[in-house]
Amino acid sequence: MRIDLSSANPLEHATAALIIGCFEDASDDLFSACDAALDGCLGRLAASREFSGKTATSRLLHTLGRLPAERLLLVGLGKRAELDDERLRQAAGTAMQALRSARVACFSSALHLATTLPGALEAVTAGTLLGSYAFEQYKTKDQDQRFGFEGMTLLLPGGADTGEAGVRIGRTEIICQGVRLARDLVAHPGNVVTTGYLADTARELASSHGLECRVYEQDELEKLGMNALVGVGKGAAEPPRLIVLEYRGAGAKGRPVVLVGKGVTFDSGGISIKPGAGMEEMKTDMAGAAAVLGTMAAAAGMKLPLNLVGIIPTVENMPDGNSFRPGDVLTSLSGTTIEITNTDAEGRLILCDALHFAQQYEPEALIDLATLTGACVVALGHEASGLMGNDQSLVDALQRAGEQCGERLWQLPIWDAYGESMKSDIADLKNSGSRDGGGIKAAWFLKQFVGSTSWAHLDIAGTAWSDKARPYSPKGATGVGVRLLIEYLQGR
Ligand code: BES
Ligand code: MN
Ligand code: ZN
Repeated sequence: MRIDLSSANPLEHATAALIIGCFEDASDDLFSACDAALDGCLGRLAASREFSGKTATSRLLHTLGRLPAERLLLVGLGKRAELDDERLRQAAGTAMQALRSARVACFSSALHLATTLPGALEAVTAGTLLGSYAFEQYKTKDQDQRFGFEGMTLLLPGGADTGEAGVRIGRTEIICQGVRLARDLVAHPGNVVTTGYLADTARELASSHGLECRVYEQDELEKLGMNALVGVGKGAAEPPRLIVLEYRGAGAKGRPVVLVGKGVTFDSGGISIKPGAGMEEMKTDMAGAAAVLGTMAAAAGMKLPLNLVGIIPTVENMPDGNSFRPGDVLTSLSGTTIEITNTDAEGRLILCDALHFAQQYEPEALIDLATLTGACVVALGHEASGLMGNDQSLVDALQRAGEQCGERLWQLPIWDAYGESMKSDIADLKNSGSRDGGGIKAAWFLKQFVGSTSWAHLDIAGTAWSDKARPYSPKGATGVGVRLLIEYLQGR
């Protein structure tokens, strides 16, 4: 969607639809002026409780020539004192749902004029761009009638610095482009997004964004001794790969932040096969990888002044005559031996090799993202990602970033007592313990491979995919992680 800036007075601005905010308990100057222009129509709607300004509600009106704008879209902002960036993003996303059903492709937004919050412009831009997302690439019918948004004009207050606003909006567009990339990758099916597809995507990003990219193929992984990663990939026709992307925004010397993303392109469970119902959702088991790719693209696009490495171990977990099996013992890259007690606990296996591999970069911080456990979904539902780590200041920084950008995280402990059930009778570790506390046990397992590096683990099993539409995230892939990591990196 094209974004233009204008410092026109909203009351004198011609557009197919003008979006304005509406509080439950207050009316600002713009709202009152629109009400006056419409002969008190807005006040009437409030009095009759047809539109009360509650969050996640909207009301589209034709102005019938009383304003230069053909339509007025009222969007609820809730109570004035409770307004924050997240509410603004949600309001902007809500507006997009209303405009989509009315098929209004070009519009102007004055939503951010309802507040003086410093991040209002970014919040409205992000809510608009993310709320306008749709994944329709596999719909072949009636393509000529398909609706697509074309352009938004953001109305700035008179006298605003349009240059500065343009820069802020440009950065937000780049971040949302990263989210869009992550959503697309997660939404595509497993027969399209294979390990090779992820590798090609990384190579393309490298050439378009000036990144270094190296893809380690199976024979190289075997030579390196990444047997846990290779072991999981044994049953699949598509070979396992390790993708490494490097962005240097701070010269040769600075220690990087290293991001690791789980890239299981489809998780059938392997020989410990999953039940059939809902198995199709396991195409999303590469959402960690998608978040890393989206973040690398955004960080490079924004020219963030830091060094960043993205590492993606990628495999398909399939049952086959060549599959790894329960009872097998794999020797991981670190030398630690792992008895396989469940081939469906594959994420921690590919991650443990990637986390050990990451040590060579001497990371300032090491952050992994993975759709790792159903147990984390049981613990936190779909409203927060699980957050665990060995460095409380890193954990706290991530949690704060999550609150800022509306991607909530909740910390779980990784006390050593949880590791008792991960010890094997015949090897150093086993890959799955008892089901209770499963999200924590998986994190405890990963912790054995990060040494003394400052590390945090995000379990995004419950947040990468949404069965219900949210104000600025339609049903399906959420692109979780990209905005969070950019927010965290910007705060460093
Ligand atoms: N990819 C799954 C976890 C998952 C569950 C992701 C729901 C998204 C939504 C993971 O590989 C897995 O199968 N985990 C097992 C681990 C168990 C066998 C120890 C689980 O959570 O059941
Ligand atoms: Mn699994
Ligand atoms: Zn998995």
